[in-house]
Amino acid sequence: MPQALFGRRTSCTKEISKVTYSIVGFGKIGQAIAKAFARSGIEVAVATTRPPQQLASTAATLGAAVKPIDLAEALEADVIFLAVPFKSHRDVAGKKPNWTGKIIVDATNAYGVDPADLGGRPSSAAIEEAFAGAQLVKGFNHLPASTLAQDPNVNGGRRVIFIASDAKDPASEVSKIAEKLGFAPIYLGKLAEGGALVQARGSSWAQLIFQDLVKFS
Ligand SMILES: NC(=O)c1ccc[n+]([C@@H]2O[C@H](COP(=O)([O-])OP(=O)(O)OC[C@H]3O[C@@H](n4cnc5c(N)ncnc54)[C@H](OP(=O)(O)O)[C@@H]3O)[C@@H](O)[C@H]2O)c1
Repeated sequence: MPQALFGRRTSCTKEISKVTYSIVGFGKIGQAIAKAFARSGIEVAVATTRPPQQLASTAATLGAAVKPIDLAEALEADVIFLAVPFKSHRDVAGKKPNWTGKIIVDATNAYGVDPADLGGRPSSAAIEEAFAGAQLVKGFNHLPASTLAQDPNVNGGRRVIFIASDAKDPASEVSKIAEKLGFAPIYLGKLAEGGALVQARGSSWAQLIFQDLVKFS
């Protein structure tokens, strides 16, 4: 078990239930998500194709909860936020033969990708297929990184994050994470149903992309 994925085991190696998180891709959107973890004091590993030392200074500016690690170790987290360019998802997916037991949070947008290359499917379906065995949740993709990076507490309300998945349990797990990070998650339903509202398709955007909503309750 990689030690960098904090909290997986106690010193007496007894398994504990703490969920581990990583963000693969530490550019604009990866850093925005990492900032939300740092703000909430929840540890998150971050990785790219570069060695972790090269991410250290940026991670340090976000907060101590953001831990650069090797990509291979980041892929051992329970919940993995995918924050790479859409076309890089196959490189990441190819790092493991089987993703059973993992939740992949698809924060990518396939803007500019020919819909024919996706067989007319939503881009998340292509990602779900590439990460064989994983449970896929679309989320954290509908806002510009500069907005997502801001404090989600807006005038006493909480910034909305849309969640879509074909499976309810992982959707619920990611919704809980979003709540812990201070957001107001809204479950849209399955990927090809409500999830279609938060997808890029070719060079157009679905209706809910860029809608910066705040929920008051
Ligand atoms: N920017 C936004 O406002 C925004 C908003 C919503 C969604 N998105 C989506 O989020 C995704 C990332 O966009 P971005 O703007 O954050 O891009 P970005 O700033 O270019 O960052 C991309 C990150 O992915 C890493 N990366 C690339 N290939 C990789 C691989 N094979 N394995 C591991 N890491 C890899 C890069 O690091 P290395 O080069 O060091 O590997 C870099 O840290 C895209 O799918 C985009 O559509 C972006």
